[in-house]
Amino acid sequence: VTLHQPVLLEPVLQKFLEMDSLPKTLWDGTFGRGGHCRAFLQRMPDCQITASDCDSEAIAFGEENFKEEINSKRLRLLLGNYLDIAKQFSNDGVKFDAVFLDLGVSSPQLDDADRGFSLYNDGPLDMRMDQSKALTAREIVNSWNADDLEKIFVDYGEAKRAQRVADRIIHERAKKEFETTKSLADVIARVEGWRRKGHHPATQYFQALRIAVNDELRIVEEVLPTLIHLLAPKGRLQVITFHSLEDRITKYKLKESTEFGRLVNKKVIKPTWDEQKDNKRARSAKLRVFERGE
Ligand SMILES: C[S@@+](CC[C@H](N)C(=O)[O-])C[C@H]1O[C@@H](n2cnc3c(N)ncnc32)[C@H](O)[C@@H]1O
Repeated sequence: VTLHQPVLLEPVLQKFLEMDSLPKTLWDGTFGRGGHCRAFLQRMPDCQITASDCDSEAIAFGEENFKEEINSKRLRLLLGNYLDIAKQFSNDGVKFDAVFLDLGVSSPQLDDADRGFSLYNDGPLDMRMDQSKALTAREIVNSWNADDLEKIFVDYGEAKRAQRVADRIIHERAKKEFETTKSLADVIARVEGWRRKGHHPATQYFQALRIAVNDELRIVEEVLPTLIHLLAPKGRLQVITFHSLEDRITKYKLKESTEFGRLVNKKVIKPTWDEQKDNKRARSAKLRVFERGE
């Protein structure tokens, strides 16, 4: 099994453990492989935890590996998009002392070629975190027009040669439909060229496709105000972001909500050098913490 090394684990724990009263209820909206969740269970023994993920493989992993915690009712696992679940909790009037989101993809999702996220492990062009959804990267790449492709490459990937890449995709797909991650990565690399060692020229384009397939930015933007309203008085929300686009949204949405509480840290929390060295995925991580008022 590929495991997922939880990012910024110590600061996240610290920000929950230093609360005036220890959280009694916590919702982890991005369970993944339960790295953070396992630590919450261990370090907050009196806390009841709800954890959810939209990826059925993540939930199946949790059911298999957290049996004891589930049986003793310390942990409840739910399959679903955190936006839908947040709205449901809000309708039901549920409150939490602690809410946690660790955005983006998990290492097993990235490493499993069949999920189609990887630039390096060839697989079908998929990129869905929730495999029950219809839209895949393959559909976007093979059916969207050049303007729409260029727009996502610019907006979600901040890509340099977005227009040329979009045109080349249209040209190539007229000959043969794109089916695999490698076929697409190779075409993009030919247009972009290798400029930075160790940085695949298609990285930004893959990020853009992934964001589009999973509608990531709209969902984050929409969920944050709801999450703040799910917090009990003095409850805390912690969000880890992995790229500047989702971080910008998180920063501005939390700032916008200061009538309901305060930002716990003026400055964003980043991984130490040691963590960045140990875990490549941690390099771009940023943690923001919001505390609800009385
Ligand atoms: C970075 S991983 C979480 C890793 C986890 N904290 C751990 O330590 O194992 C992000 C997870 O969030 C899930 N996810 C992403 N967007 C989601 C959404 N809108 N709703 C529910 N789950 C989502 C992904 O499927 C993935 O499993």
